[in-house]
Amino acid sequence: MDHFTYKNGELYAEELPLREIAAKVGTPFYCYSTATLERHYKVFSGAFDGVKALVCYALKANSNLAVIRTLAALGCGADVVSKGELRRALAAGVPPEKIVFSGVGKTADEMRAGLEAGIHQFNVESEPEVRLLSEVASAMGKTAVIAFRVNPDVDAKTHAKISTGKAENKFGVPWQDVSRIYGEAAKLPGIEIRGVDVHIGSQLTDLEPYRNAFNRVRELVLQLRAEGHDITRVDLGGGLGIPYDGTVPPDPAAYSLVALEAMGNLDVQLIFEPGRMIVGNAGVLVSEVLFVKQATKRKFIILDAAMNDLIRPAMYDGFHAIDPIREDQKTGPQGPADVVGPVCETGDTFARERDMPEAIAAGDLVAFRSAGAYGAVMASTYNTRPLVPEVLVKGDQYAVIRERPSLEELLKLDIMPPWLGS
Ligand code: LLP
Repeated sequence: MDHFTYKNGELYAEELPLREIAAKVGTPFYCYSTATLERHYKVFSGAFDGVKALVCYALKANSNLAVIRTLAALGCGADVVSKGELRRALAAGVPPEKIVFSGVGKTADEMRAGLEAGIHQFNVESEPEVRLLSEVASAMGKTAVIAFRVNPDVDAKTHAKISTGKAENKFGVPWQDVSRIYGEAAKLPGIEIRGVDVHIGSQLTDLEPYRNAFNRVRELVLQLRAEGHDITRVDLGGGLGIPYDGTVPPDPAAYSLVALEAMGNLDVQLIFEPGRMIVGNAGVLVSEVLFVKQATKRKFIILDAAMNDLIRPAMYDGFHAIDPIREDQKTGPQGPADVVGPVCETGDTFARERDMPEAIAAGDLVAFRSAGAYGAVMASTYNTRPLVPEVLVKGDQYAVIRERPSLEELLKLDIMPPWLGS
């Protein structure tokens, strides 16, 4: 459930018409709903009430400081994958003891930053990584608390580009080597092994892959304990899907049952890293129709938003519902059209032969739904299009939480070498 609904004939974000925000901020822009963010976090964390659990929101899904702070204020932790995300989590007020540092390629500098901050744990993905972490921590006179991310070799049944738990994926330590790797890492100075970590993919709509992975992890915990490791934490990753196209994914309560069935009596702290599930449906991308063009074979609705603003359709064939802001257009006659952006490549297509309002015309606004996750964070300035602004709504208030950069700011990033003149 989200708080983007039709009222008084038009689409609102909570108590504000998106049209009014568009008039002030200009299009395209991302708009997030505080009530939706809070609701999603509470539904997820509520599914683990009474359990030793730490929810670490995966910043990669949407790392705007205002979004992070909204969640941190509810007690949410953070899963970070870079020094930059670590900085964001700390700047937004996430306590270091609620931060986990994931990622397959951390640099020594990033390790130092995590150790300096005193984070909860590093999720380590390889032997060379744990050796480097040991060196870095020892040199600082510190101890890095770690979990190894294990690769359970299960098929997450999601898009290949966001599936991470198969043996052929780059993630985690191979299942058959886990025992040896834990044994060797336990001897390293500056390393304290506390946990096991697993993350099998993103936008999962089926609980079976989770069940398989979690059961494997359970056995692993028992085995590692028998081998003398003091395993007190299990990080189960993120990945729970959201309803983009009407397919309803399992809700957090059902997911929680699967997690607790496998982990329930292990007496471990459970760590979760949800991203999309928290922010996905808490955001929309609002765009204006520039032209409607009738070509020989197709009708094209040309928007002022493009693939650089929302890459998911081009990159993963991701489906985003595209709703007109005017309710009469939503309920009126629909006909097939391709919804495209202005970027000079055919990949800049948001939807093909999608039923869209027949009455839609230049100047009308549309909202891409479910754009709160992996939207703004994956945007680029391709075609020298400045990043679009982000707006956060709370009730009847809104605030711009990231400005649209000017072209001057964008151009200033480039530096003319002396031999070309100024
Ligand atoms: N933890 C780890 C280690 C991850 O790699 C990810 C996502 C998450 C947690 C959060 O997963 P979530 O709950 O959001 O599914 N850009 C793609 C999704 C990439 C996901 C990468 N890892 C997309 O737009 O679909």
